[in-house]
Order: sequence, then C-alpha cells, then structure tokens
Amino acid sequence: MRYVYLTVFFIVVLAVSILGFRGSLSTRTPLEIFPDMDHQAKYKPQAESKFFADGRVDRPRPAGTVAFGRMSDAADANFLKADPALFEGKDAKGSWIKGYPSAITVDAKFLERGQEKYTIYCAPCHGAVGDGNGITKQYGMGATPTYHDERLRNIAEGDLFNTITHGKGNMLSYAEKLAAQDRWAVIAYVRALQRAAHATVADVPAEHKSQLGIK
Ligand code: HEC
Repeated sequence: MRYVYLTVFFIVVLAVSILGFRGSLSTRTPLEIFPDMDHQAKYKPQAESKFFADGRVDRPRPAGTVAFGRMSDAADANFLKADPALFEGKDAKGSWIKGYPSAITVDAKFLERGQEKYTIYCAPCHGAVGDGNGITKQYGMGATPTYHDERLRNIAEGDLFNTITHGKGNMLSYAEKLAAQDRWAVIAYVRALQRAAHATVADVPAEHKSQLGIK
C-alpha cells in the first residue's frame, strides 16, 4: 500500500512541476544547452553603431559609385533594369510605349510562351479567350473586365505592362511570378486574343477558306 501512495505522490509532484508553470513568465535567461550561433557579434539592418561617425550601421554608397552591369549579356538583362521600355513599359519621356521594347522579338515561339503563362496566371480570372469569364467568376469575382472592348483594344502596350507589373484594383501584381520578358510575352498573347475576337472572314488564309465552306 505504501508504494501506491508514494507512486501517486510522485506522479502529482511530476505533473505539477512539468505542467504547473506553463504560461508563467520568467525574467531569467533561459538555459541554453546548445546555443549554436544564437549569439554573435553582428549588426542588424538600420541599427545603431558607435563605430561609424554618423552612428548608422547602414553605410551609404561611396560617392561616384557606378552600377556595373552585365547589360550585354541578355540572360542577365534583369540585373540592372536599365531599359525603361523593357522593365517599365515607358519611353525616355515617361509615356507608355506603343508596341514592344526593342529588346523583344515577337515570333511564334514568343507567343507560345505568352500563351503558356497566360493560361497559368491570367485565364483563371480573365478566361481562356480573354472575355473576363474565368473560373473565379463562379466564385464571386465579378469585376474582371473583358479585353475585347474599345478601350483595352486601343490601350498602349506599356500600359498593359504596367497593369501586369503593379496590378490594378482587385488584380494583384504579377511581377513576382513573371519576368519582364514573360510579361511582354503575355501581352503579345493578349493582343492575339483581341485580334482573334475581332477577326473577320478576310483574316482567314485563302487555303483554309474552303474548309470553312467559304469561297
Ligand atoms: C485574380 C483575378 C485576376 C487575375 C489572375 C488576373 N487579373 Fe487582370 N484584372 C482582374 C480584375 C478584377 C481587373 C479589374 C481591375 C480594376 O479595374 O479595378 C483586371 C484588369 C485587368 C486589365 C485591364 C486594366 C485596365 O487598364 O483597365 C488587364 C489588361 C489585365 N487585367 C490583364 C491581366 C493579365 C495579363 C493577367 C495575367 C498575368 C491578369 N490580368 C491576371 C483580375 C485578375
């Protein structure tokens, strides 16, 4: 019997010592068995430093610093973003460019890339044909516009680029998801959708007309 009392006593003591202090705060330093690299001499961003005369940790750029780029390397054109047409959709005066930046070549492969990205990132709201009837409409996102009205058909490409880059109203930015070049590819595909939605018989190549039963 004694053992039973002892066991119960120890269980109670154990339970209270483990669970009883949950939530209580202590000002003492916690025990650190493995401190790893938790404590080290370092500066945190925007902190104070007595070492520098101006007291700031963040050091200003030395006067005359010039960005050194890899502009000639097309694969790394994103590094400096020095081309306002390619990265902002703007010309040198700051207006939206019409057409495409000189760094962009629109060909069939580029359009295919645009179609792929459009289908992933835009079609859920704007619909596969750009009429604004994507799947999200069924779930209450009603305000997605069609691309086929007069205004969006005539809008400058640079303005479209800006919408994809920064978003508009309920539409979020796609700059994180699409590299600038891919945003232009999506624009080219949006233009193709607009063209297709307003196509006439005159647009059908002669050799395909008979397939449609037109002379
Ligand atoms: C989550 C839904 C959603 C997705 C995804 C989406 N959009 Fe939109 N988009 C909208 C809505 C909503 C508006 C209307 C914004 C407003 O005018 O308030 C809009 C507006 C636009 C406009 C019209 C801008 C103007 O000048 O009025 C364009 C062009 C456009 N989107 C292109 C795209 C492209 C290209 C993509 C893919 C990269 C995309 N959108 C992805 C919801 C979406």
